[in-house]
Amino acid sequence: MKASLTINNKLYDFEAAPDMPLLWVLRDLLQLTGTKYGCGIGVCGSCTVLIEKNPVRSCMLPVSSVNGKEITTIEGLSELYPELQETWQELNVPQCGYCQSGQLMSAAALLENKSDPSDADIDTAMSGNICRCGTYTRIRKAIHKAATLKTVKPERS
Ligand code: FES
Repeated sequence: MKASLTINNKLYDFEAAPDMPLLWVLRDLLQLTGTKYGCGIGVCGSCTVLIEKNPVRSCMLPVSSVNGKEITTIEGLSELYPELQETWQELNVPQCGYCQSGQLMSAAALLENKSDPSDADIDTAMSGNICRCGTYTRIRKAIHKAATLKTVKPERS
């Protein structure tokens, strides 16, 4: 099928089998390799991207179901939430780093819906993102700090 996706504000036209998971479209067809493959069955969260600003597991999503939608991947996160990447670096959140693009995308979706999340909000929103290194405490701190930074910046269009 012919497909058309807007990814990180850039239009991509390509051909793919309708049942090809979005993750493979991103990684293999469009060379957007920041989104990672972990479990392939929707339970680890490492493949998380935003569709219309909602977090989804791209390993489970046939490309035909998202045709024409607006997608944000880790490569576009600095446009949407630079505060998250800044605080992730400042607080040395990653350890091995493999899950972190998915963690960041889930954090962005959380802040999109809640500008000042509580610990419980964070734990709930991030519960589908597994980190083998156990960076959960630093992730929580970084989200709180990013929320603080975002509130003092002017609104983005
Ligand atoms: Fe998609 Fe694990 S690779 S949830």
